[in-house]
Amino acid sequence: MRIFMDTANIDDIRRGARMGVVDGVTTNPSLLANEGVEYRDRVLEICDVVDGPISAECISSDPDELVAEAQRIAAWHPNVVVKIAMSESGLEAIRRVSAEGIRVNTTLIFSANQALLAARAGATFVSPFIGRLQDGGHDGMEVVREIVTIFETHGLPTQVLAASIRSTRDVTEAALAGAHIATLPPNVLYQMVHHPLTDAGIERFLADAAKYAAV
Ligand code: E4P
Repeated sequence: MRIFMDTANIDDIRRGARMGVVDGVTTNPSLLANEGVEYRDRVLEICDVVDGPISAECISSDPDELVAEAQRIAAWHPNVVVKIAMSESGLEAIRRVSAEGIRVNTTLIFSANQALLAARAGATFVSPFIGRLQDGGHDGMEVVREIVTIFETHGLPTQVLAASIRSTRDVTEAALAGAHIATLPPNVLYQMVHHPLTDAGIERFLADAAKYAAV
């Protein structure tokens, strides 16, 4: 399973990229709103740091406007993937822009049937929102498992991008469920590095090394 970062914060993206494990980045209007920068400028900054798919979200609702917006956003950089929310207009736009070779990440997926429609429309990625499903008392990971099974059963090439991740456990479960990618908030990525026994073990090795280094 590949690891993306789910943030528009450039310092976090640089930190994750230095760790050598970040394959892409997902952004959305809410994440950008926290940054106080222009969307295109920040996406281009991210493209300089991470050489992989960088999702940037369309906000139009009319199909023609969505297509025009997707074409404009996709032209920012070859690594940009346009995010289009699941809806009838969204599906029409996905079909039209995918036919032009524009990669689409269908966002706000909450059911296997929505993912199936997005895949049939030509989406490169579908993003089931695990955390928001769990917030509502639903089994988000079961939706991921269903989507993975449907795509495998029917030979659909669309990749499952587990989104709305809230915890390190979500990452493990998404990997076990067969998600191709998980997009992680920075704090979840940083927490994955640690285990109390690792941290205690490092401290002990350093303390013991200081003893023999002094001999
Ligand atoms: C990713 O593409 C989504 O925008 C993101 O994971 C949403 O996460 P949230 O439910 O924590 O806002």
